[in-house]
Amino acid sequence: MHHLPRLSRPLALALAAAAIIAAGCNKSEPPAAGGTNSPATPSAKPAKSSYTIGMSQCNLGEPWRVEMNAQVKAAADKHPNLKVVFKDAQNDTLKQRAHVEEFVSAGVDLLLISPKEAQPLTEPVAKAMEAGIPVIVLDRKLLGDKYTCFIGADNKKIGRAAGEWIVKKLGGKGKVVELKGLMTSIPGQDRNRGFRDGIQGSGLQIAFEADMKWLEPDARKEMESALARVPKIDCVYAHNDPGAHGAYLAAKAAGREKEMIFVGIDALPQEGVAYVQQGILDATFQYPTGGAEAVETALKIFQGETVPREITLGSRLFDKSNVAAGGQELK
Ligand code: FRU
Repeated sequence: MHHLPRLSRPLALALAAAAIIAAGCNKSEPPAAGGTNSPATPSAKPAKSSYTIGMSQCNLGEPWRVEMNAQVKAAADKHPNLKVVFKDAQNDTLKQRAHVEEFVSAGVDLLLISPKEAQPLTEPVAKAMEAGIPVIVLDRKLLGDKYTCFIGADNKKIGRAAGEWIVKKLGGKGKVVELKGLMTSIPGQDRNRGFRDGIQGSGLQIAFEADMKWLEPDARKEMESALARVPKIDCVYAHNDPGAHGAYLAAKAAGREKEMIFVGIDALPQEGVAYVQQGILDATFQYPTGGAEAVETALKIFQGETVPREITLGSRLFDKSNVAAGGQELK
């Protein structure tokens, strides 16, 4: 949907890789107690000469998920003994459940999953674990603890930082439109909760809120309703950059884009960061995909090493003041 010159693929990949390295991995929780047979650490299997990873991606409609798959592939390509089979559920939960079941029947050595929603994917993933297949969950959490390792950034922290940044930028008061990510997914819930904590006690008011399900066209439509109902909007906080961009396009079409600031999350070099450089967004917070870390963790699991239950990735803030310098780490 965005009308940006696309970067060449090698350059885009190099930038994304640099962003991942910069984000780093600033917190790792120790493995769950319970010995080698705990759900966190399935018992080590004899070493094999090659391994197949089944990667269940919930959707490839957003550039962020295309990037996640590209990072998984780039990391796996460095290891000739690794094969990754990708399945795209095209934003359909039932299709993603079926994909998980297919990977289990095929007997993959490890399941890597970035689930669309928490509740409906929890059971099929638990069944994979019961079948002895280790599972790495990427970016969107499941319910309960039937997985080997979760990798993702801290969405509550990012939401809180976005709230605090907006409070400061607006001088502590104003009307906010919150365009939420799919609220049956944990990042949507956490980006909402963190944000509300971040603006607590300030004079900021939520004038309009809607679930845009992470999708730019939905965000644009919801923003049209917000514009029709709220005579003066000071800020749009969208749970991802496609959402913030959709809101910007709606405001621009109504001739009102200069009346408000726009804040998003993801900060892909060719998407959110470029929007900040172009003055479309006022800020974006990086949400690393974790693709490279997932492959590293899979290799450790194949080698029989114990891995942390949770690997928390870092984030960076990009705004007008720091975008040229590569953003600023979120503390
Ligand atoms: C892509 C996406 C990203 C967002 C992430 C949250 O589908 O919506 O934009 O940061 O998923 O899980």
